[in-house]
Amino acid sequence: MPEMNETAAPDRIRELRAQIERHNDLYYHQAAPEISDREFDALLRELQDLESAHPDLAIPDSPTLHVGGRPLEEFLPAKHLAPMQSLDNTYSADELREFIIRLRKLAEDRPLHFTIEPKVDGVAISILYEHGRLVRAATRGDGTTGDDVTQNVRTISNVPHRLSGRPPAKIEVRGEIYLPKSVFASLNTERDEEGLPPFANPRNAAAGSIKQLDPAITASRKLAAVFYGTGFWEGEHPVTGRTLLASLEKWGLPVPEKILEASDTDGVVTAVESLGSIRHNFVYETDGAVIKLDNIALRREFGSTAKAPRWAIAYKYEPERAETRLLDITVQVGRTGTLTPVAELSPVFVSGSTISRATLHNEEEIQRKDIRIGDTVLVEKAGEVIPAVVEVKKACRTGEERLFQMPTNCPSCMGSLHKDGVAWKCNNPSCPAQVRRRIEYFASKQAMDIEGLGEALVNQLVDASLLANIADIYALEKAPLLALERMGEKSASNLIAAIDESRSRPLWRLLNGLGIPHVGVTSARDLASHFHTIDALKAADVPTLLSIHSIGAIMAEAIHTWFQSADNIALLDALRSAGLNLGELDEAAPPTDTRLAGTNWVLTGTLSISREEASDIIRRHGGKITGSVSKKTTHLLAGEDAGSKLAKASALGIPVMNETAFREITAQE
Ligand code: IVH
Repeated sequence: MPEMNETAAPDRIRELRAQIERHNDLYYHQAAPEISDREFDALLRELQDLESAHPDLAIPDSPTLHVGGRPLEEFLPAKHLAPMQSLDNTYSADELREFIIRLRKLAEDRPLHFTIEPKVDGVAISILYEHGRLVRAATRGDGTTGDDVTQNVRTISNVPHRLSGRPPAKIEVRGEIYLPKSVFASLNTERDEEGLPPFANPRNAAAGSIKQLDPAITASRKLAAVFYGTGFWEGEHPVTGRTLLASLEKWGLPVPEKILEASDTDGVVTAVESLGSIRHNFVYETDGAVIKLDNIALRREFGSTAKAPRWAIAYKYEPERAETRLLDITVQVGRTGTLTPVAELSPVFVSGSTISRATLHNEEEIQRKDIRIGDTVLVEKAGEVIPAVVEVKKACRTGEERLFQMPTNCPSCMGSLHKDGVAWKCNNPSCPAQVRRRIEYFASKQAMDIEGLGEALVNQLVDASLLANIADIYALEKAPLLALERMGEKSASNLIAAIDESRSRPLWRLLNGLGIPHVGVTSARDLASHFHTIDALKAADVPTLLSIHSIGAIMAEAIHTWFQSADNIALLDALRSAGLNLGELDEAAPPTDTRLAGTNWVLTGTLSISREEASDIIRRHGGKITGSVSKKTTHLLAGEDAGSKLAKASALGIPVMNETAFREITAQE
């Protein structure tokens, strides 16, 4: 914590806030940063430290409380350099044939060649790169002017901030932002748990995510992008669509993984069908195929109608739906206690597999769709993965159908419930269903990845009183396991070995597995890389947590509260005694040498490098860092504006080192 006399602190805080706001603006809005991310973080950290040392000087709109300095009040308009058009749709092979006949007429005798691409069901985006740098990202809007969503698009990991190779000096690339199907499934499970309404499909989820005014939320959603074309293009343009895509790929932009080609009508129809049969394997949801004339000179010649180009068309696949009976509605209890109603269906085949259950998310969803027990319903796979009841066939009602009523007590522990958003939640943290789901999640692939410890075995172990909480996993022994049904010598040994192996998993896996409300894989990774150890995280206050990329206000509060609970502290102690890695194994590099072995350092004041970086250097040479000056302190590293720590160190006769001296003693030979 930087110390500073009471008159200097307000000035420095004001100065830091102004500097940070300016650098935010340079980075996010002008795309012309003047300092490195590290230098920026050092400013932010200094401000955080000062604000926590002087809580009376904290203000609600301090840049320490928002990623990018501020959530936007509204998106700014962004005018596209070339208009963003839409596509005409076709729904049958005959309509496709008509499209090709129209083009043949326009082409006269010239040969035509087509590409057939997946139609990605996401949110259209146009990104402007100037001299290879991402300068602006905009939604389609009305086709002429969209919303400036640059801050959000910068958080998407497969969108390059800088293009490689030699792209045109100015180019608009066009594509789709999407939520991967696999992420969609877990996002909706999390939303159910948190009492938030589910997204109907990945496209809505992507649209909701990109339109977040707070980029921290966008960052936490794991969006991705794929590019299939361009708008404005300065300089010489490629001659075919295929070479254009090859250029995008060469510059580091993701392009569709499967592009088919055809030169005649039958070939196009076959390609559309074959894309239809493999589309379920793509990472994004597709709602059709896009057929494009490959020759760009012909594209220009044939031009556009008011809304869409003449040289391309979309073919929409039928949504795969099936009709079935809803036999019953049961209620499941999730790991955070959320009660989720589930439709028990008469088994039916849809999009490649048989489904017999579908989540109904929450009570309000059932009321909104007026779903009753005994109804005939249409089901599909939302996002091609999650079975969903999309519609009730009310005409089929006989009057025998029954209204569903949410239970008034937890169906697992019979305990009381409370309402959180749209969700009902069980109040009892020791509820057997919650305990089972928590253990199952802890052992799952997204968390500690303990092979073999899935739903069925967790249920068996809990029933046999061998597991009552997460920490019990590490007390399991082979002999009692062998007494379980279907548990042989080999599986028992494998399980013990898998549990043992999980002790050294990286910290983020543990953080994700603990079931801290709102913390998922992305935030767990960010927390682990920021704090390195669980003890450091436990000690963090809310403003410090808020300074981390994917952590918003609700999550910061939830994390802070979680670490205050006596039960959770006891759980962490038990895990520590069980020998789990609580971060110490994650420490980046092993010491490079021992020249600082036996030294205890305290850092103070402003350094030209971040505190984390300075601490890393000390650790790599075998030294230790502590927060406050004591008799044990052997060195004080003092930057500019050092305050009372410097005074205390001098009083104790502790050697004080400035940054230049520090660099000299730690420089590599
Ligand atoms: S080409 C001039 N290719 O679908 C229009 N669009 O319904 C160029 N889309 O506006 C669009 N995948 O947002 C094209 N492979 C693909 C596409 C694709 C998805 C979207 C795009 C378009 C909308 C039309």
